[in-house]
Amino acid sequence: MADAEQKQRLDRILCNLGYGSRREMQKRIRAGQVRVDGQTVTDPSFHVDPARASLELNGRQVLWQRYVYLMMNKPAGVISASQGREPCVLDLVQQPVKGLAVCGRLDKDVEGLLLLTNDGPLVHRLLHPRYAIEKEYEVQLHFALTDPMIRLIEAGIGEYRPARIRNAAEKTCTIIVTEGKFHEVKRIFQAAGNEVVHLKRIRLKNLCLDESLQAGEYRPLREAELRDLRAEDPAADPE
Ligand code: URA
Repeated sequence: MADAEQKQRLDRILCNLGYGSRREMQKRIRAGQVRVDGQTVTDPSFHVDPARASLELNGRQVLWQRYVYLMMNKPAGVISASQGREPCVLDLVQQPVKGLAVCGRLDKDVEGLLLLTNDGPLVHRLLHPRYAIEKEYEVQLHFALTDPMIRLIEAGIGEYRPARIRNAAEKTCTIIVTEGKFHEVKRIFQAAGNEVVHLKRIRLKNLCLDESLQAGEYRPLREAELRDLRAEDPAADPE
């Protein structure tokens, strides 16, 4: 009896894990792209316990998780959190996942890496300033980036912690910050006498943006990505 309760429809399992809509999953299952315990299953209503079965989609192992973890390439022009009036990034996710939330908002005009998950404890660990989780951004600037500006930013300008500047060129660089304050990168450069004209997040801890994702596309995290994201950071301040 307990077993029967754990079993769910194959199309629903894959959809809830973020692989696509129910309709897409039904198509792919019928097309023979899904294997359960090594056997191709073409019936979308086939019932299986996802915690026990070995699932493959197009020959790639499906990672079953209690929680859902999606990496999205956020498009510019879409807000990160619902304010009720305009569509937000969660509206781009085809299947409704209970409790799905954005881990670390990006401004409307900012694009790039967004983690969407319903794993609240992980979100807390990734966002709390005490853990100093690195976030890396590609930056385009209005004015030339000077050595004094870099020194100011790397020393910690105003209320902001020291940040690291990499790949500095005339009007572009990457910046690594560890706080997550509101408009942090824009305000850091503003305080240093410059202006951000384009911003793209490319990394959160060791999770790098999958550049094969078009703006607005998303995919479930891979096992190694999730393992790295969850790993305790020995440098983190436990206080
Ligand atoms: N810093 C900003 O200024 N904006 C963002 O969206 C993220 C970091």
